[in-house]
Amino acid sequence: MALVSVMAPFLVRCQMTENLNIANKKYREETMKKKGGVLYGVGVGPGDPELLTLKAARVLNMVDMVFAAASTKNAYSLALSIAKPHIPDAIPVRMLYFPMTSNQDEKEAAWKEHAETIIKHLEQGFKVAFNALGDVMTYSTFGYILKNVQELGSRFPIISIPGITSYQAAAASVNIPLVEGEESLVLTSGAGGGDRLREFVAKPECVVFLKAYRNVEDIVLAIEEAGVYQESIGISNCGQKDEKIFRDINELGDRRPCYWTLIVARQKKSNERKKS
Ligand SMILES: C[S@@+](CC[C@H](N)C(=O)[O-])C[C@H]1O[C@@H](n2cnc3c(N)ncnc32)[C@H](O)[C@@H]1O
Repeated sequence: MALVSVMAPFLVRCQMTENLNIANKKYREETMKKKGGVLYGVGVGPGDPELLTLKAARVLNMVDMVFAAASTKNAYSLALSIAKPHIPDAIPVRMLYFPMTSNQDEKEAAWKEHAETIIKHLEQGFKVAFNALGDVMTYSTFGYILKNVQELGSRFPIISIPGITSYQAAAASVNIPLVEGEESLVLTSGAGGGDRLREFVAKPECVVFLKAYRNVEDIVLAIEEAGVYQESIGISNCGQKDEKIFRDINELGDRRPCYWTLIVARQKKSNERKKS
């Protein structure tokens, strides 16, 4: 009984502090809601401006500002050039420069700096869009922006709008289904060559290599070694005016293709396999 009466003022104080924290949090959230800051990650598809979703086009038409990622090497943003027809002239566009480097510290510093810039705009009550090529959740710079914005403690809403990926558009452009029935698809980076495919003992029916440029020779070799991928094609600049289709992927191995190159390698369709 005595202990309870000694503790009572302390417990009351704790409860009051807790209530105050809840009230503060609610107030902050209410203020933010009123301010209206929202970050939209907008997937703009792989190249053809008609391959933007209706939702992406609507958001680009109503935000207060658009951020576009560009390399520090040049001021060009492919994602922005794709989205441009959908962005009204009155909406300001700001480039965010990302270093094309393997130095992790440099990359992380840029992600954090840009996340801070975005948060500053959200705090001013702006609705902002960050444009990303293809889909925002597939090997996308937006993934790093998203993580950094969250880690910096921003409580503004983040809405990710999926986009058509480069490999979906590539498969459609050559009329090759990626997977059917019970088949499996492996999507992997080809930046390090073909080892990711070599690691699979049971080969998936379809394997897609993005970033098939620097080490494309080794990717082509790994596909050949697997001995099962009868339908393999390479595509550079899919959906853009300089699109190039390589029906013989050995042609890719002979020359180093541009960064915007991918390979889709498919086994014969299962019904064809059964017949043969
Ligand atoms: C960082 S990843 C971006 C992937 C993108 N978020 C997506 O959903 O397709 C870059 C790689 O995607 C592929 N890529 C993106 N757009 C492409 C296009 N229009 N044509 C061919 N490959 C493309 C290339 O393999 C390139 O190296």
